[in-house]
Amino acid sequence: MTLHEITAIQETALAALAVAESADVVEQIRIQYLGRNGTLPALMKSLGAVSPEDRAAIGKATNALRTAIEEGIAAKKTTFDTMASRDGVALPSVDFSLPGRWHTVGTPHPISSVIEEVVRIFSRLGFTVADGPDIETNFNNFVALNTADHHPSRDPSDTFWLTDDLLLRTQTSPIQIRAMLANKKPPVRIVTPGRCYRRDTTDATHSANFHQIEGLYVDTVPISLADLKSTLAYFAREMMGPDVKVRFRPHFFPFTEPSVEVDFSCHICHGKGCRVCKMSGWIEILGAGMVDPRVYAKVGYPSDVYGYAFGMGVERIAMIKYGITDIRLLYENDVRYLTQFA
Ligand code: PHE
Repeated sequence: MTLHEITAIQETALAALAVAESADVVEQIRIQYLGRNGTLPALMKSLGAVSPEDRAAIGKATNALRTAIEEGIAAKKTTFDTMASRDGVALPSVDFSLPGRWHTVGTPHPISSVIEEVVRIFSRLGFTVADGPDIETNFNNFVALNTADHHPSRDPSDTFWLTDDLLLRTQTSPIQIRAMLANKKPPVRIVTPGRCYRRDTTDATHSANFHQIEGLYVDTVPISLADLKSTLAYFAREMMGPDVKVRFRPHFFPFTEPSVEVDFSCHICHGKGCRVCKMSGWIEILGAGMVDPRVYAKVGYPSDVYGYAFGMGVERIAMIKYGITDIRLLYENDVRYLTQFA
């Protein structure tokens, strides 16, 4: 009896266990090695014949051999317990007739889809995406945007003030300020999707929390209202289809001069008048204008730069594009509703 022989026995036993395909075979192996007339008891008996100086090592190896075989058998039994057998042959305990489990794949939210599409269109014109925080300073959200102290949008009944100086941004326009402060000199050409907050009572078309996408292009070469108009006309066609018409109406924003509101012709009735466009044939989409030189002064830009800015409501575009009649449907997160816009 040598250590070498014991190792050989262990290898043979474990190899036999590894290929055993039924509980019967495992039981035969158990009897062969551990049974009353098996290999292990015989080994134990022969220990008496081992020289005293080798006995401790051989005894230890024999015990290890028994443990290894016992553990191998136990492991194999556990495997068989979790399997059914057919004709004495083990089978995985799977019922192949059961219906499968579906892993449903999510779909983009309409708000995300609109943001992605708008960004894609403007990126083709050289605009890059800029970002800013939801919590803004009074300076970025109002002061630098030339908004008078008495302007109604600053009122606590319109704006969520957090402190005297901090607020939840009411528009994405403060990102214009951040972008210009970060870019010591023009050109700056950015689009900025983001969440905005206003103290609006929720109804079919209002939500206290909504999204805007802002655009800003400032350069040292002359940029005119005509550039703004052609850019927005291109955007309108890419977003709504080649037949859409664009209308500019005079308006007021504190940080643009002149300011305009931009309407797209109604894509439902093509301008004839319907419920969606309230019989006018036009749908208001954007606010825009040439950046007021007072804003350049606030960010330290020279007075001889030129630029335009625009801002649009993401929910509004999503509702128009997908025919969604109530803004709340965008926030209820009912996947049955939202997946249809995938
Ligand atoms: N920030 C304006 C709003 O929320 C929209 C706007 C953006 C107007 C940029 C002009 C230029 O109504």
